Amino acid sequence: MLTSLSELPQRKASGSKVAVLTAYDYPTARMLDDAGIDLILVGDSLGMVVHGLPDTTGVTMEMMLIHTASVCRGVKRAPVIADLPYASYRTAEEALANAKRLMDCGASAVKLEGGVSMIPQVRAIIAAGIPLIGHIGMLPQSVKEEGGYKKKGKTSEQIGRLIADAQALDAAGAVAMVLESIVPEVATQITGLVQASTIGIGAGSGTDGQVLVTPDLLGSFPWFRPPFAKARADVASETHRAVCEYISEVQGALLR
Ligand code: KIV
Repeated sequence: MLTSLSELPQRKASGSKVAVLTAYDYPTARMLDDAGIDLILVGDSLGMVVHGLPDTTGVTMEMMLIHTASVCRGVKRAPVIADLPYASYRTAEEALANAKRLMDCGASAVKLEGGVSMIPQVRAIIAAGIPLIGHIGMLPQSVKEEGGYKKKGKTSEQIGRLIADAQALDAAGAVAMVLESIVPEVATQITGLVQASTIGIGAGSGTDGQVLVTPDLLGSFPWFRPPFAKARADVASETHRAVCEYISEVQGALLR
C-alpha cells in the first residue's frame, strides 16, 4: 500500500496496480485507510452522493474544504487527493490560491479536470511544490457544455485530443491522471505513452490503477450506479432493515 505519492513511478514500473477510492468524511476515510487503500480521493462527486445535487457544477470550495479536512483527520497513512471544484481554477492565480487552501486542510495533492487548456494552471500549482493529478476523458464539470456524460476516444479526432491532453499533463509534471470513461484500448495506449500513473474509471483494465466512487462500491447510493461499477455490499438494504427493526422495536416498546 502507498504511503507517499512519490512511490507512484515505482508502482507503475512494477506493474502493480494502484487502488483508489473516494471518501468525503472522517469515518469512511478512516475505514479505507485501515483497510489498506492506496490513495483516497475527496472527489467533487460528493455534490451528488453526499449533497444530493444533480451534478458536480454546484460544488463549492467551501464544501471541498470541509470534506477534505474531515477526511484528512481520519487518515494516518494513505495520501489524500482533493478535487478543485467547478470554477475554482479559471486562472493560474486562482488555481494556485485554491490548491493551497486544500493543501492547508491536509491534502497531499490536488486534482483538476482538463488537459492542454489547463496547462498554465497545472504549471502554477506544480511550481509551488504541490503535487497535481490531472483528469481527462469525460469531464463531469463540463457536463452542461457537453450535453451529457459521453464516452471519449471513439473517433480519431477524439483520440488525438486525448493523447495531446495526456502528454501535455505529463510534460508539465503531473504525478498521475484520471482517465474517465475512455475507450479501453485508448486508455491502455495513453498509459503506455506517459510517465505519470493513469487511474482509470470506466476505461478498462489497462490503466495503472482504478478509482471508484465509494458509495457505488458499497451500495449506499442505490438510486444511480454507473454500469462499470460493481457493488460489493448492499449498505442501502442493510440500512433499511436496521431502521425498520429499530422503528418496530421503539413502537412495540411504546405500546407495552
Ligand atoms: O469526483 C470524483 O469522485 C472523481 C472520480 C470519479 C474520479 O473525480
